[in-house]
Amino acid sequence: MSNPSLLILPGDGIGPEVMAEVAKIIDWYGAKRGLKFDVSEDLVGGAAYDKHGTPLHDDTMEKAQEVDAVLLGAVGGPKYDNLDFSVKPERGLLRLRKEMDLYANLRPAQCFDALADFSSLKRDVVAGLDIMIVRELTSGVYFGEPRGIFEEGNERVGINTQRYTESEIDRVARSAFELAMKRDKKLCSMEKANVMESGILWREVVTKVGEDYPEVELSHMYADAGAMQLTRWPKQFDVIVTDNLFGDLLSDLAAMLTGSLGMLPSASLGAPMPNGRPKALYEPVHGSAPDIAGQGKANPIACILSFAMALRYSFDAGEEATRLEEAVNAVLADGLRTADLLGEEGVQPVSTGEMGDAIVAKLEASL
Ligand code: IPM
Ligand code: MG
Repeated sequence: MSNPSLLILPGDGIGPEVMAEVAKIIDWYGAKRGLKFDVSEDLVGGAAYDKHGTPLHDDTMEKAQEVDAVLLGAVGGPKYDNLDFSVKPERGLLRLRKEMDLYANLRPAQCFDALADFSSLKRDVVAGLDIMIVRELTSGVYFGEPRGIFEEGNERVGINTQRYTESEIDRVARSAFELAMKRDKKLCSMEKANVMESGILWREVVTKVGEDYPEVELSHMYADAGAMQLTRWPKQFDVIVTDNLFGDLLSDLAAMLTGSLGMLPSASLGAPMPNGRPKALYEPVHGSAPDIAGQGKANPIACILSFAMALRYSFDAGEEATRLEEAVNAVLADGLRTADLLGEEGVQPVSTGEMGDAIVAKLEASL
């Protein structure tokens, strides 16, 4: 049997630097755990635009459809701010999500013990926090039609459309219930049913899907109240399911609870392929951080943990994923900190590469 295939798209800014550390981890698994991958690499975002005049070349799109999983670094940067909307780096990422139909975006927010003091919230509010946000990723206001900037009378009007079909809500709700079944069996659905028809339908469909999961305790919250509760007492949540735009906002909020955006991975999953694996793209939640790019300051952990999610959700290697997560935990417990995690007195930051090497050393020590 051939090895599973991985397409690596480092992208822009700190993307290539953090991805270089993931490459070390992938090599380690190949050499030491017999987990070998056929790895190919390509361009996305501004890097693709510079070469091809488009943030995602059709050939790259085609490759992404064929591989077992895609690993993406980050896209965007000030250099591309004035490009036409249709070729902005972000469009490359959105095209991947849409055409691969990656409807369930899993964004865990976990507070590493060693970092509980980095949160802007008090230690006891966040210590031990482990929640999972499931964000709908292929519909809603990100993709709804009509959209555009139109002339109306003597002024312009900007239009986007929030649109959800029952089946789009149903499938992401099922993903969230399935996850809840493997966790603490609690699911909170967030929308704005008080002002939006799409929210009313969302609540109805999620409630209906819930009948298939009687063991899961389902609750509903308006998304604004959800944001408030996430900062007040986040440990009340286990799994949260929400739409594309609310999920974008709430996942950044949840990320900061844990102290640093530089720590958080994500998985975007679609329907199963013929080989049984879901269509999948893994990427850190953080952006391309152009201000620190190329200086060895970036934290590679979010990208490394995204690979751990790939091991768990695409390659049925949950124990190896746990090994990697424990290695990350161990370097943090040793006091290693990249520049984004400074604050403790007398701590010198380690570089991106040193952090990657230290994690590999912990993997080695785990054998
Ligand atoms: C995210 C990002 C993206 C989004 C951008 C880069 C298009 O903020 O993945 O959360 O809005 O979905
Ligand atoms: Mg976002």
